[in-house]
Amino acid sequence: MTGSCPDYRLAPSILSANFARLGEEVDDVLASGADIVHFDVMDNHYVPNLTIGPMVCEALRQHGVTAPIDVHLMVRPVDQLIGDFIDAGASYVTFHPEASDHIDRSLQLIRDGGCQAGLVFNPATPLSYLDYVMDKVDMILLMSVNPGFGGQSFIPATLDKLREVRRRIDASGRDIRLEVDGGVKVENIAEIAAAGADTFVAGSAVFNARNETDPNRYNSVIDAFHKQLAALS
Ligand code: DX5
Ligand code: ZN
Repeated sequence: MTGSCPDYRLAPSILSANFARLGEEVDDVLASGADIVHFDVMDNHYVPNLTIGPMVCEALRQHGVTAPIDVHLMVRPVDQLIGDFIDAGASYVTFHPEASDHIDRSLQLIRDGGCQAGLVFNPATPLSYLDYVMDKVDMILLMSVNPGFGGQSFIPATLDKLREVRRRIDASGRDIRLEVDGGVKVENIAEIAAAGADTFVAGSAVFNARNETDPNRYNSVIDAFHKQLAALS
């Protein structure tokens, strides 16, 4: 990592939250110190699972959530849902380039809607999709598992890929967040940050650590993540 102290952000993935009390779960992780709400949208077509759509994003906004909502689209096609999530209050919208027929247009749709735009790379997806759009992305998301499910193990080859994307971001001189998603734990976040990530999605590691005796429910796990990151700064 070059430059000054990175602005690390933790983004719990609500995929592992208790959906029967989603508003409360999101309030609890934010009160415990999370920075961003990671919102996984799966269509049982691009990925083999089915989750939540724009109505749930809108419901979180109406519930009073003001933190950034990071919408990770695992859907094909993408453009209609981009518009729907802009209207529903998304902050970031990221999509997989293989799922869009016109990547440049999809990125522009997101930015024209006032959101931050990002591309997501599956473990085997080449970084060449970035070649002509570095000036059009606000976030690059590397999947460190194959998308579709929480609770999978971090794929170690992601570390080299992170280093390569960090090199490209630094060479561009642009303000682009580098996010990682899948298998992020207290035990490996330091190594992942050292490889260049600055934004960390963690689903099962956060939501499986709910503690009913803790006033904010997730203080201890989120503190543990932040401590690992603070030691690097
Ligand atoms: C997987 C999703 C992830 C998932 C991560 O397709 O994009 O955001 O929730 O879950 P963990 O942190 O449990 O690997
Ligand atoms: Zn995700």
